[in-house]
Amino acid sequence: MTTIVVTGGTGTLGRPVTRRLAERGHDVRVLSRHSPRYPVDLREGTGLAAALDGADVVVHCASGPRGDEQAARRLVAAMRAAGVGHLVYISIVGVDRVPIGYYRAKLAVERIVEESGIGWTVLRSTQFHDLVVTLLQAAAKLPVMLLPSGVSDQPIEVAEVADRLADLATGEPAGRVPDMAGPEVLGLPALARAYLRATGRRRPVVSVPLLGKGYQGMRNGGHLAPRQAVGEATFEDYLARRFGTQE
Ligand SMILES: NC(=O)c1ccc[n+]([C@@H]2O[C@H](COP(=O)([O-])OP(=O)(O)OC[C@H]3O[C@@H](n4cnc5c(N)ncnc54)[C@H](OP(=O)(O)O)[C@@H]3O)[C@@H](O)[C@H]2O)c1
Repeated sequence: MTTIVVTGGTGTLGRPVTRRLAERGHDVRVLSRHSPRYPVDLREGTGLAAALDGADVVVHCASGPRGDEQAARRLVAAMRAAGVGHLVYISIVGVDRVPIGYYRAKLAVERIVEESGIGWTVLRSTQFHDLVVTLLQAAAKLPVMLLPSGVSDQPIEVAEVADRLADLATGEPAGRVPDMAGPEVLGLPALARAYLRATGRRRPVVSVPLLGKGYQGMRNGGHLAPRQAVGEATFEDYLARRFGTQE
C-alpha cells in the first residue's frame, strides 16, 4: 500500500482520482482548502508538512485562478523536506502555444515540477466535458449564444483522465508523458447545438470574432491534440449521461 496525497482531491478531477486510488487499496489523503481531514491552502502552506508526513506520492490537481505558481513552489519545498519521492502533475494541452494567463501559470508550474529535484510525471489533457458544459451554460444565459468564431475543442471524459493519472501515480516517475485528448475535434457551434438539444433549450448560436493572441492561439488549434485522440467517451455520450435524451 502506498500513501498518496491528492491535492485538489475535492475537485472535478481530484474526486475520481481519489476514488480510483482508494479502490486500488492505497491510503489516500485528500488535500484542499475545504478538505475535512487535510485543510490546506497551498498558497500559504499551513498544515502542508503534516499532510505530507510519510507520504510516497503527490498527485497535484489543485488549481485556482490565481496563485498556482506560489502553491507549486510551496508544495515542492514541502515535498523535498518530507522526502516524498514522486510528484504527478496534471497540465493542459497547449499551455506552451496559447498565451493566456492561466496557461502561462500552468506552464510555469510545469517548469517548477521539472526542476524540483523530485521524481516527476506531467500529463497534459484537453478540456473535460464538464468544463465545456459549464462554459456553454454561461453562454446560454443570454437569449443569443455568443461564441468565439473559428474555435474548436476536443473535450475528454474526466474519468478517463483520472484512470490515467491513477496509473501514473502508482508507477515510477515518467517525466512528460503523451498528451491525452478527447475522441473528436468539434467546432464550438456544434458543441453548443448538442448542448441545446440535450437540455431541450432553444437559442440562436452566433459566432463572434475576438481580438488577442490567446484567441488566435485557440483559433490555430493550439489547445487541440488530434493525433492524441485517445479518449473514448464523446461529448454526446457525456450529455446523454448527464441530461438524459430529450429528443
Ligand atoms: N477542467 C478542465 O477541463 C481541465 C483540463 C485539463 C487539465 N485540467 C487541470 O486539472 C486540474 C484540476 O481541474 P478541475 O477541473 O478538477 O478543477 P476544480 O474542479 O476547480 O478543482 C480545483 C481543486 O483545487 C482545490 N484548490 C483550489 N485552490 C486551492 C488552494 N489554494 N489550495 C489547496 N487546494 C486548492 C479546490 O478545493 P478547495 O476549494 O477546497 O480548495 C478543488 O479541490 C487543474 O490543474 C486544471 O488546470 C483541467
